[in-house]
Amino acid sequence: MRAALLFAMLTTCATAQAEPAREGNRVFQTNCARCHGAQADGDTPIAKVVKPPPPDLRRTPLSEAQIREIVTHGGEGVGRSPIMPNWGFQLSPEDIDAVVAYVNGLKGSVDGVKSAARSQ
Ligand code: HEC
Repeated sequence: MRAALLFAMLTTCATAQAEPAREGNRVFQTNCARCHGAQADGDTPIAKVVKPPPPDLRRTPLSEAQIREIVTHGGEGVGRSPIMPNWGFQLSPEDIDAVVAYVNGLKGSVDGVKSAARSQ
């Protein structure tokens, strides 16, 4: 019992101290990877059956503000596919901030420039 409590306290501290990029990656892997892929490359079984498919986020043409729009309000909220969920209801503002920064940071990560997704 006491060990469990200590463990809970330790993991809470670890989360609080996690650097933003790691936090964004955690939120992404938990909520987004099933559609957009663990590497954010859109290579998922869902992408083969849904139209339009969840895109390769490493190549998104969207600005950080536009990424925040679609993540917060969902595809439907910005006149796009309702398959892209509305995360404003499901994630905390901190998690939205972290995942938006994470996705924005993936831009330019293909073609050997850098791969934030792969190095995690
Ligand atoms: C149930 C599947 C699904 C999940 C889960 C999902 N998405 Fe999406 N996402 C989509 C689809 C489908 C689209 C394409 C919408 C369209 O083009 O109309 C999309 C589009 C996007 C876009 C627009 C990209 C562009 O270049 O236009 C962003 C950004 C995005 N998703 C981020 C996220 C993030 C961040 C998460 C997790 C918090 C997430 N998505 C979770 C299905 C999903």
